[in-house]
Amino acid sequence: MARLVHLVVFNLLLLFVVCSAQMPGFVSIDCGGSETYTDYIGLVWTPDSQFIYGEAANISVPNENRKQYKTVRYFPADNRKYCYTFNVTIRTRYLVRTSFLYGNFDRSNVYPKFDISIGASHWSTIVIYDEKAIVTQEAVILASFPTVSICLSNATTGQPFISTIELRQFNGSLYHTEFETQFFLSLSARLNFGADNNGSIRYPDDPYDRIWESDSLKRPNYLVDVAPGTERISTAMPIDVNNDERPPVKVMQTAVVGQNGTLNYRLNLNGFPGYGWAFCYFAEIEELGVNEIRKFKLVLPGNKELTRLIVNVQENAQGKYRLYEPGSYNISLPFVLSFAFKQTNDSSRGPILNALEIYKYMGIHYGSMDASTMQSFTSHYPQAVWAQEGGDPCLPAPWSWVQCNSDPQPRIVSIELSKKNLTGDIPLELANLTGLVELWLDGNMLTGPIPELGGCLNLKDIHLENNKLTGDLPSSLVGLPSLKELYVQNNMLSGTVPTGLLGKNIVFMYSGNAYLDGEKNSKRHIIIVLCCVFGFSVLLAAVLAYLFAHRKRELLSGKDDLATVLPLQKQSASFSELGTDVAHRYMLSEIKCATENFAKKVGFGGYGTVYYGKMTNGKEIAVKVLTNDSCQGNRQFSIEVSLLSRIHHRNLVQFLGYCQQEGKNILVYEFMHNGTLKEHLHGSASQRQHISWIKRLEIAEDVAKGIEYLHTGCSPAIIHRDLKTSNILLDKNMRAKVSDFGLSKPAADESHVSSVVRGTLGYLDPEYYTSQQLTVKSDVYSYGIILLELISGQEPISNTSFGESFRNISPWAKFHCESGEIEAIIDPSLGDDYNDIQSVWKVAEVAVRCVNREMRNRPAMSEVLKEIQEAIALEHAPANTQPNNFFGEVYLDALNNPGPDAYSSDSFTQPELR
Ligand SMILES: *[C@@H]1O[C@H](CO)[C@@H](O)[C@H](O)[C@H]1NC(C)=O
Ligand SMILES: *[C@@H]1O[C@H](CO)[C@@H](O)[C@H](O)[C@H]1NC(C)=O
Ligand SMILES: *[C@@H]1O[C@H](CO)[C@@H](O)[C@H](O)[C@H]1NC(C)=O
Ligand SMILES: *[C@@H]1O[C@H](CO)[C@@H](O)[C@H](O)[C@H]1NC(C)=O
Ligand SMILES: *[C@@H]1O[C@H](CO)[C@@H](O)[C@H](O)[C@H]1NC(C)=O
Ligand SMILES: *[C@@H]1O[C@H](CO)[C@@H](O)[C@H](O)[C@H]1NC(C)=O
Ligand SMILES: *[C@@H]1O[C@H](CO)[C@@H](O)[C@H](O)[C@H]1NC(C)=O
Repeated sequence: MARLVHLVVFNLLLLFVVCSAQMPGFVSIDCGGSETYTDYIGLVWTPDSQFIYGEAANISVPNENRKQYKTVRYFPADNRKYCYTFNVTIRTRYLVRTSFLYGNFDRSNVYPKFDISIGASHWSTIVIYDEKAIVTQEAVILASFPTVSICLSNATTGQPFISTIELRQFNGSLYHTEFETQFFLSLSARLNFGADNNGSIRYPDDPYDRIWESDSLKRPNYLVDVAPGTERISTAMPIDVNNDERPPVKVMQTAVVGQNGTLNYRLNLNGFPGYGWAFCYFAEIEELGVNEIRKFKLVLPGNKELTRLIVNVQENAQGKYRLYEPGSYNISLPFVLSFAFKQTNDSSRGPILNALEIYKYMGIHYGSMDASTMQSFTSHYPQAVWAQEGGDPCLPAPWSWVQCNSDPQPRIVSIELSKKNLTGDIPLELANLTGLVELWLDGNMLTGPIPELGGCLNLKDIHLENNKLTGDLPSSLVGLPSLKELYVQNNMLSGTVPTGLLGKNIVFMYSGNAYLDGEKNSKRHIIIVLCCVFGFSVLLAAVLAYLFAHRKRELLSGKDDLATVLPLQKQSASFSELGTDVAHRYMLSEIKCATENFAKKVGFGGYGTVYYGKMTNGKEIAVKVLTNDSCQGNRQFSIEVSLLSRIHHRNLVQFLGYCQQEGKNILVYEFMHNGTLKEHLHGSASQRQHISWIKRLEIAEDVAKGIEYLHTGCSPAIIHRDLKTSNILLDKNMRAKVSDFGLSKPAADESHVSSVVRGTLGYLDPEYYTSQQLTVKSDVYSYGIILLELISGQEPISNTSFGESFRNISPWAKFHCESGEIEAIIDPSLGDDYNDIQSVWKVAEVAVRCVNREMRNRPAMSEVLKEIQEAIALEHAPANTQPNNFFGEVYLDALNNPGPDAYSSDSFTQPELR
């Protein structure tokens, strides 16, 4: 069994020793138990009480008195895996048995559903249907590594738990198949026919402790359609079973016989359809007369080969009371198996059947390419909890501190061991992780030199800061083609910084290394080699060109610009730390699966393309893949992840998480069914959906609430900087949410923040780009433009729509409002859709105030929101007698949006925060 393996859970190995003393090759773990004991059949059970994960719970199930079923160990229902690891003898086969008795251990009556795997190979999905029934899984594996891990993961309902784990070593050629390096066997049926009671036969009757189930045990859809004339027979004579799979003598001493010429059965085969290993066990245990003969054939619908098989037990076994074991090493079987044995014409006795075993072949997953490297890596930290997660580093779920790519044999792309008290040298194994993209070893007590990482050609971010590393900075770092960020500050490095590093377009921090020399004439300070100096000048040029085109007179100096960006560059690193700590991380494989490999493009956001996706649980998502290879994109990413994971509001598009894998930067948002407001206002006829006036007011209100939250609900306040109708998304109910925080940026302590002018033509606050003073009032300006668009249905800039005197929407609207001609700006497609023209007036007036050239004359968002809500109240006027207070707002919400949101309790307790 290849790589069913990996880490060594120290405690369990001790247990293994205890067990070995009793029955060679037997391990019996009482999960959740607290003491070692010998049960009534002579098996020694050992507790897993030293197992570092999960919790133990006591359960009590009527009529189940076995001690191992009085406790369970259960685990959090998270995206991790929880592994038990055992030492095994390589090149031998083992029976692995796990059992699960729910017993309502969590008092929730939620029947768990989760996966179990052997190493990286999926074994089974455990589904509990009855809290009092034991679910058992058995497999036969070939140990090809010195350890084997049994892992629980992927709980889709309830919490994963386990009652027992048993390992039984086989010897000889038992269950040898020619496929055993690619497949293991998972048990579907092991039946003892003719059993004299309901009890199963196992150790000590079966020296290998297989459990042979009685055919008289009644289970739904199991061993039905029994042919008339089927009789049980038994013998006390010893049976010679010493070949093939060595079924226990006691099992072979009973059988069924089809006295009327036929035996037939139907049974459900768990795990099938599929390919399986299926064998029958026969022994002649009746005294036949001199001229008597027992011959029969197997009738297996759809299988000609086996159907032709004629069995003459005594002849095939070369004697009475001897085992004959025909079957197939590779047979395709259905879930519902019907089979029969029919007496041949020349036979004087009906068919006989002593026992039967059917296993399904399960593919062995060879696990991560880096599995053995990681095993060696973790062996340096035998005491560390994180090093004992066990199983494959990537599959079925990655260790909590690694990320893997989605290759068939995944490679590790990220190691995150920041602040884990690591001591000693940096393990040299890292150099063998050629897929590594991010390495986080900062904040430890690592000593010694930085290893050569020249082979890790994908390495992008290296965090070694705040350790006690000594020696030179290896020059191999210079040759890393993908390197973007290198942090080695606050170590004890010495020597000279390789000049190649200083010249590279990377973020490189190396201060706090007393004996490390930078460039000859530079001070020992944090030096930030600007990411993409080149890209930066391009950006700068673009900004300048843009400003130039738009407003020649107000050109600003390039020097000022550059200076304002430097501090921002520094921030991005801390942002990324912050963001990745709190945001949910998706696996690229999940995303690929959800988007069907990025099949459906739904838009272009700032710096990226947006795809539609659907998660396995049915949740629809919008997946924004940032344009990579531009450090703008990377910086954008860090900022977005950091900001978005802190911001939650009903009127802001919900950020679900991110994925940073294989060099892709991906943001995952809730999917908004009705696209952008821009499409509906200005799009092609097919995109447009007529939006009534009241609906427009609701949209305005939603957007205002979202922005108000950014400005006042977040600390520090967040300035969106790029509000526009294409950043307003509409959900199923045409309620609006603000999206694209790509250009957002927390406001600093001062009332304004300087930064490069960004935004979109037509929405850009004129005072912002002349003064470089960014404040929340710049968003108010953009919001005013959106209001004017909602009223007029016009785009913000047009050469034709606004007559000869105007090119922009705001002076045009202002002119007409001041002239008292509100009708002149109302969207013709609205007709007289409004109840009260006063509501239009109210919105127009507030919009005009929002687009005032001077910031100080613009209202705050809270004031704007109040005006919009009053306009809504006016529209509802005949019916609306509600006072315009908080409860009035809730009432209106509920009225306008009969979706579940409207009555959600957070509307009452904390109206905006979630
Ligand atoms: C388990 O395997 C490890 C690694 O080979 C070895 O150091 C340890 O002694 C073994 N434990 C037992 C109980 O055999
Ligand atoms: C389970 O029962 C044992 C003995 O009755 C008790 O010592 C132990 O604390 C219980 N464990 C839990 C988790 O309740
Ligand atoms: C997790 O379980 C669900 C439902 O059983 C299944 O669809 C999904 O493929 C599983 N995920 C993994 C990684 O095995
Ligand atoms: C295999 O194990 C069984 C049961 O432990 C024992 O009786 C038998 O002698 C062993 N056979 C070999 C070949 O080791
Ligand atoms: C089975 O055989 C017995 C006698 O051997 C006979 O009495 C009975 O009717 C037969 N049943 C069927 C269904 O053929
Ligand atoms: C590191 O060691 C300190 C002091 O011994 C301890 O408080 C801290 O919990 C340890 N951190 C980890 C991640 O083990
Ligand atoms: C790295 O891989 C090479 C080649 O597979 C191997 O010889 C070497 O021992 C490995 N180094 C470490 C530290 O694992």
